[in-house]
This record gives sequence, structure tokens and C-alpha cells, in this order.
Amino acid sequence: MPSVDTNLEKAADRPSRFDFDTVSSTYDQWYETAEGVMYDRLEKKAISRYLWQNTQGMKLLEVGCGTGHWSQFFCDYGFNVAGVDTSEGMIKVAQSKNITNASFRIADGHSLPFKDNSFDVTVAITTLEFVHDAELVLQEMARCTRKPSGLLVIGVLNASARLNRSRQEKPGSLYAKAKLLSKGQLKKILGKYGQTQLFTIGPVPRQRCLLSFSPFIDRVARLLHLPHGVFIAGQVRL
Ligand SMILES: C[S@@+](CC[C@H](N)C(=O)[O-])C[C@H]1O[C@@H](n2cnc3c(N)ncnc32)[C@H](O)[C@@H]1O
Repeated sequence: MPSVDTNLEKAADRPSRFDFDTVSSTYDQWYETAEGVMYDRLEKKAISRYLWQNTQGMKLLEVGCGTGHWSQFFCDYGFNVAGVDTSEGMIKVAQSKNITNASFRIADGHSLPFKDNSFDVTVAITTLEFVHDAELVLQEMARCTRKPSGLLVIGVLNASARLNRSRQEKPGSLYAKAKLLSKGQLKKILGKYGQTQLFTIGPVPRQRCLLSFSPFIDRVARLLHLPHGVFIAGQVRL
């Protein structure tokens, strides 16, 4: 069984499974497509369910903040956001947005440059599937989150969703390099830190004419506890 130190060395060699510098200038275009807008809306609604009502001035760490798309959302929610990412290109795009109450720096989630218990909430949105060692990153996130009652909030692409499997089959795509997690796998690795809540959202129909039905389809899928939604939203209260 490898020790944490060995894992850290391996992670330092290859902190990310995909070089996001190569897509940093085009990454936000996804959020402007009709499908992207709908997924974004559903994902934000899902993640909001885990956040407190009054977050004014609370500190939130976002691991794998990318271009700062979600950082803007967390700042609008009232948090002071510290965003970290291993990709210089992604961090430059995030910094160029001049988001009020957000700061961005290059750092590796496997070895976060923050003291224990420094944040009220620690978040990773579609990041764990791209890191070298998701368990180690979660361990670091938990270390940096205040105890008791801090929150770990996670969003990942569901390994069991057909759409994600087909995305992974496209050679050269960023998804082809990702190590996706299923709901069961995420529950197992989050469960170490406390009682876990998880649910999935989507899928959003690909036909444009059906897109506006997405919230309804999502609600029905959730009521029926269908496990194959595209995105898994999870939280643990420490
Ligand atoms: C799919 S993108 C998600 C970006 C952003 N969270 C979003 O949802 O728009 C994954 C991000 O994780 C970052 N990443 C990958 N490995 C990382 C690591 N070890 N530490 C910090 N960030 C990492 C990548 O550089 C990339 O910006």
C-alpha cells in the first residue's frame, strides 16, 4: 500500500490528467452554448442546495477554479473566494475577469498552500476527475476546511451517465483523460469525512426544441431516484 508521501511525489509529477492550458482561451465557450447554459443552470441550482443562506464574508476555497466561472457565482452568493488551479492559462483567464472578492493563484490540490481550518467551505467542481489522486485532494480540502461544521462541496461528472461515457470515447477530448467517478465511488471517498448527501442532475435533452423541458425532466429523474444523471452534486458537513 503506497504511503501518502509516495502519492504526493507522483501527484507532483503529474498533478492534472489533462493540460488545461491548451483549452483555456476557449473553455468558457461551453457555458455560452444552449446546452451549456441549461447544464450550468441545473448544476448551480443543485450546488446551491448545499450552501447556507447567509454567507456574507465567509471564506470559500475553490480547488480547480479554472477560468473563474463558478468563482463568480460563489462571490455573487456572498463568499470571499480563493481560487486555485494548476493551469497557468486557466488562472490568467480567471484573473482577467477582475471578480470582486475573488483571488486566484496557481496551486496544486494535492498539496494546498493553506493552513488547517482556514475556510468555511471548500469546493471542487468537475475537478476531482482530472486530478492525479482524488482521495489525496479531498484529504487536503478537508484539512483546509474548518472543523466542526465546515462544508465540503463536490460536483463531478457521473461515470454511469451515457453522455459522459460517449464524451470519454472521443479520442483527444479532455474527457478521454478524465477518471470519472460513479455515485457509489464518490459516496465512499466522501464518507470518510462525515455524513454525505449526494444527488444527480440531468441529462439535458440534446434536441434544441426540448431544451426548455430540462428542469422538468431533471425533477422527474430526481423524484424517481434515477442514478444516471450527468452531474453528481455532493456535500459533507465536517
Ligand atoms: C474541467 S475543469 C473545471 C474548471 C471549473 N471548476 C469549472 O467547472 O468551470 C478542471 C480544472 O481542474 C484543474 N486541475 C486539474 N488538476 C488539478 C490539481 N491537481 N490541482 C488544482 N487544479 C487542478 C484543471 O487545470 C482545470 O482548470
